[in-house]
Amino acid sequence: MRVLSGMRPSGKLHLGHYHGVLKNWLKLQNESECFFFVADWHALTTEYNNPSAIQDNIKEMALDWLSVGIDPEKSTVFLQSAIKEHAELHLLLSMITPIPWLERNPTYKEQIEEVKDKDLHTYGFLGYPILQTADIIIYKANAVPVGIDQAPHLELSREITRRFNFLYGETFPEPQTLLTETPKLLGTDGRKMSKSYNNAIFLSDAPDVIEKKILPMMTDPARQRRTDAGNPEICPVFFLHKIYSSADVIQKVDEGCRTAGIGCIECKKFVIPKIIEELKPIQEKRAEIVKTPDIVNDVLNKGNEKAGKIAQKTMEDVRKVLNL
Ligand code: TRP
Ligand code: SF4
Repeated sequence: MRVLSGMRPSGKLHLGHYHGVLKNWLKLQNESECFFFVADWHALTTEYNNPSAIQDNIKEMALDWLSVGIDPEKSTVFLQSAIKEHAELHLLLSMITPIPWLERNPTYKEQIEEVKDKDLHTYGFLGYPILQTADIIIYKANAVPVGIDQAPHLELSREITRRFNFLYGETFPEPQTLLTETPKLLGTDGRKMSKSYNNAIFLSDAPDVIEKKILPMMTDPARQRRTDAGNPEICPVFFLHKIYSSADVIQKVDEGCRTAGIGCIECKKFVIPKIIEELKPIQEKRAEIVKTPDIVNDVLNKGNEKAGKIAQKTMEDVRKVLNL
């Protein structure tokens, strides 16, 4: 089974990426042939007006991948924009993709509605899922591990793939969605953890930074005073406990919160060392690998070469069936 997934380079990664995506990639790289790539062209679909940060973001993200244990000996780690064949296949797929398929994509509709600080009425943004389809099928990947938010894109990828195969003959396997179970994890303000909300705990945050972020973290708003009872099920701190704490501690916190037996600060202090402990080996590994100059470039160059060979081969087949 060939597995492929990508991430847009948003810079430093946070706990949401780690628990929601990277842990799954780590498991998969021991079981299957994996391709993981930096989707820098996809980053430009929304950041086209601000490309200055892109190189830094690529580097930071790739360093985080390596620090958590994505292993270039096991997985092919590469950069989307280095493999120009993705763009060629994207162009050819755009010939056969009806615009209404793209316009009814729920992710597209939602973003067009919600994002007000930039103009997303661009051809590139509408065609995002076509590029994503090219990314996947150019490697004839069978499975794509993604979170539920990406499911509509993958559905569209299958439809485009079926249409290609129908028009020109069986060329690509239909990529299956490998839905990643993501534990509920929110940012320090109770919203989804995101760099842009300024509520994220980054993999590279030092212990004192983590403490400074968690101590004032939002809790159940009903607990105004120490004597108010709370409901852990709606508290972002409790979601952290569910990920990090032992069953005993979870039980203790659950009861203590509901009976006002423990305070929120005490509760937070149970989980802070657990997060610090989990990140310690990751940060040590990062400190180690950055000693090798050009590590990210070397890893990507090697991956680009492997990925490029496969993509070139696929495009030869594609050109043939299209009489090009
Ligand atoms: N759209 C994905 C995201 O935002 C990134 C991505 C681009 C991707 N191409 C892909 C994921 C191909 C899986 C397969 O997270
Ligand atoms: Fe949240 Fe813990 Fe406070 Fe309850 S005691 S509201 S779980 S921080």
